[in-house]
Amino acid sequence: MTDSAFEKLLAENPWPETKGLIAWDYTLGGYGRDMIDTIIRDKKPRFMLEIGCFLCSSSRRWLSVDPELKLVGVDPWSDHLIEQVQRYVGRPKLTREYPNMEDQKRFASDVERQGPFPTALANMRGFEDRFVPYRGLSPDALYELKGKGFEPELIYIDANKQAVDLDVCHELWPNAQITGDDWHWSRSKGFPMRDIVYAFAEKHGFNVKAEHATWILER
Ligand SMILES: C[S@@+](CC[C@H](N)C(=O)[O-])C[C@H]1O[C@@H](n2cnc3c(N)ncnc32)[C@H](O)[C@@H]1O
Repeated sequence: MTDSAFEKLLAENPWPETKGLIAWDYTLGGYGRDMIDTIIRDKKPRFMLEIGCFLCSSSRRWLSVDPELKLVGVDPWSDHLIEQVQRYVGRPKLTREYPNMEDQKRFASDVERQGPFPTALANMRGFEDRFVPYRGLSPDALYELKGKGFEPELIYIDANKQAVDLDVCHELWPNAQITGDDWHWSRSKGFPMRDIVYAFAEKHGFNVKAEHATWILER
């Protein structure tokens, strides 16, 4: 992967206008992300792929760890996220983050008024030359990125809890380290992500390391 291939991707996937927009650095992810910070710090991957970015709080985090890191984020950023965010108002997770109900309502109405995609990119200000917002769905978007010469060394999966995300990442980028979120999701639903990650690890000979919501695959 070359810097010029990344620059081409950036040019083909322009950011929306974010001037005057309000950024909300709200994450849907769980704890344990310091394991990913450590990989970024120690292994110094130059290129990373994140599948499922939402408002880009995690994306912002990865790029803040290492000023040399460049990231492609895949997400449709569809308007369905507006309704999703509205459902969070009054729920414990959003209330922990924004205890004031007026803030929660403002959050939901800003996402609706500004749109999920511009709101996410407003949260990425300062990273204009290191983040490509790639609008699309995994796994199709992954094949497209491969075709454009994108070669991530580190992958973080935080999308729809699908085995196909891991399978296609490994098929396309066998040397990339695959990691992700949703390890804790959810006890009442039988921890579906754990089953997916364990089955994948067994099939391909990886060890699984997990803390809180975060999992990583290692040789
Ligand atoms: C849990 S959120 C991501 C949270 C984000 N990483 C953070 O820390 O705040 C899941 C996201 O995955 C996106 N998504 C769902 N299915 C996807 C797919 N097949 N490919 C890419 N993104 C997907 C959704 O649009 C949503 O924004």
